[in-house]
Amino acid sequence: MLLSHILGWERHQLYLRGDELLSAGQLNAFESMLQRRLKGEPVQYILETKEFMGLSFKVDRRVLIPRWETELLVEYVLSAAEKREEPLSILDLGTGSGVLAVSLAVYLPKAELTAIDIREEALQVAAENAKNYNVSDRVAFLSGDLFTPLDGTGVHACFDIIVSNPPYIPTEEIQGLMPEVREYEPVSALDGGRDGLDFYRRIAQQAWKYLKEDGFIALEIGYNQGMSVQKLFLETEAYKRGEIHKDLAGRDRLAVFHKRQGVERCWKN
Ligand SMILES: C[S@@+](CC[C@H](N)C(=O)[O-])C[C@H]1O[C@@H](n2cnc3c(N)ncnc32)[C@H](O)[C@@H]1O
Repeated sequence: MLLSHILGWERHQLYLRGDELLSAGQLNAFESMLQRRLKGEPVQYILETKEFMGLSFKVDRRVLIPRWETELLVEYVLSAAEKREEPLSILDLGTGSGVLAVSLAVYLPKAELTAIDIREEALQVAAENAKNYNVSDRVAFLSGDLFTPLDGTGVHACFDIIVSNPPYIPTEEIQGLMPEVREYEPVSALDGGRDGLDFYRRIAQQAWKYLKEDGFIALEIGYNQGMSVQKLFLETEAYKRGEIHKDLAGRDRLAVFHKRQGVERCWKN
């Protein structure tokens, strides 16, 4: 991958043209990339790119590298969106590189997106990704803690759908992660507090206030968090039912909660 990148060749060309010599400049570039890789830096940071939902996203150390499991969340929303009236308004909480907001904007060409992250530097990467796919006019980026940037800003704060892939690793487990993750990816994108559920706790308390009457929230969850997350949401009595979906490996991966009818409407309709 590193060599293909430097030469600008497709991977198969490496085999077909295997007897060509590198220029001094190419050799230097290749060696410096190899050194970074040998120290454990993920290849996606070195190449500054990651594929997601068939799209190519810019990533660097300011953002988490999007994972393939997260595509399940996008696929769920795309299929739910087919049954709804367009245009949809969608909120992405903890947008990072912007993969959720930007891929939803690309595949739902009439949807209006709002994407929030607490880290300005992540939002810079997300905005670049939105620009690359010509969706900047439909994705508003806001910086701040969870829902707080929506209050009093005058932006549309009433959504059909909320999506989020919040940090959900229990603090104690972070030290046990692979060095590639632990030493290179932003800890604030991983750390979900003592039991990993801090963000779900806060989101459960607040999300319904920002959902339209028939709105829903779809969240990525850790492989063993289905029951706990379901409990946190349903005990607020603001959501009428919960669904836990598993990934291809049979592990909990996605939680969906629909707003219960009759609870206070969101503030701007
Ligand atoms: C697990 S990453 C997900 C990134 C991206 N959505 C994805 O799926 O690849 C979680 C993101 O939440 C952001 N974040 C952490 N705490 C936050 C908070 N209190 N409010 C808003 N965003 C937060 C992090 O900066 C990080 O970008």
